[in-house]
Amino acid sequence: MTSSLELHTERLTIRDWTLGDAEAALQIYGAEEVARWLTPEMRAVHDVEAMRSVLHAWMEAQPNLVPPAGRWAIAHKRGGDLLGGLSLRLLPPFEEDFELNWQLRPDAWGNGYATEAGSAAIGWAFEQGIEELFAVARPKNTRAIATARRLGMEWVGETEKYYSTRLQVFRIRPSDTAVRTR
Ligand SMILES: CC(C)(COP(=O)(O)OP(=O)(O)OC[C@H]1O[C@@H](n2cnc3c(N)ncnc32)[C@H](O)[C@@H]1OP(=O)(O)O)[C@@H](O)C(=O)NCCC(=O)NCCS
Repeated sequence: MTSSLELHTERLTIRDWTLGDAEAALQIYGAEEVARWLTPEMRAVHDVEAMRSVLHAWMEAQPNLVPPAGRWAIAHKRGGDLLGGLSLRLLPPFEEDFELNWQLRPDAWGNGYATEAGSAAIGWAFEQGIEELFAVARPKNTRAIATARRLGMEWVGETEKYYSTRLQVFRIRPSDTAVRTR
């Protein structure tokens, strides 16, 4: 059982994290524009040591996750620059719904990278046999909401069931991707 992965898109590589990513990953997860939308545990990543510990924990957990769950890095194909991260996981507390989420380095926003990586991750997740995938975003997280829509995700509604905070919920199913690519 493993969620080790390497996917290639037109401009990007989606790959496993390494400890060598710590410095570059801090440019993503240590950035206030990104951290403000993340969980409290991630908001505490302020230096390379803390980032390395987080990556270490992710890498240790990865082999025990049931696919399609996992956390991966998004790098530029040309030159290999680290641009962001994405993960697939079961949403707490019920762990029934698979969530896709993404984070990009702020200076990489506005190029369609989250959409490109997200689309590849969705395709791969559906190949693993799941029947639907969700994205959740706080109502003011307009960029995340726009990316979910760009990915062809459908607005489902608002809920407090996942983190006891009001979240917009988006969903995509394999049949939606079939319609989109036709
Ligand atoms: C959410 C997040 C990943 C979105 O990043 P993004 O770069 O805006 O997302 P996309 O990949 O969808 O890019 C869309 C933008 O690129 C532009 N773009 C350029 N080339 C493009 C292409 N080939 N395809 C699609 N869009 C393209 C679009 O016009 C759009 O521009 P706009 O922002 O001016 O409207 C980023 O804002 C982020 O890291 N936020 C903080 C963390 C977060 O909230 N994550 C989500 C919840 S966990």
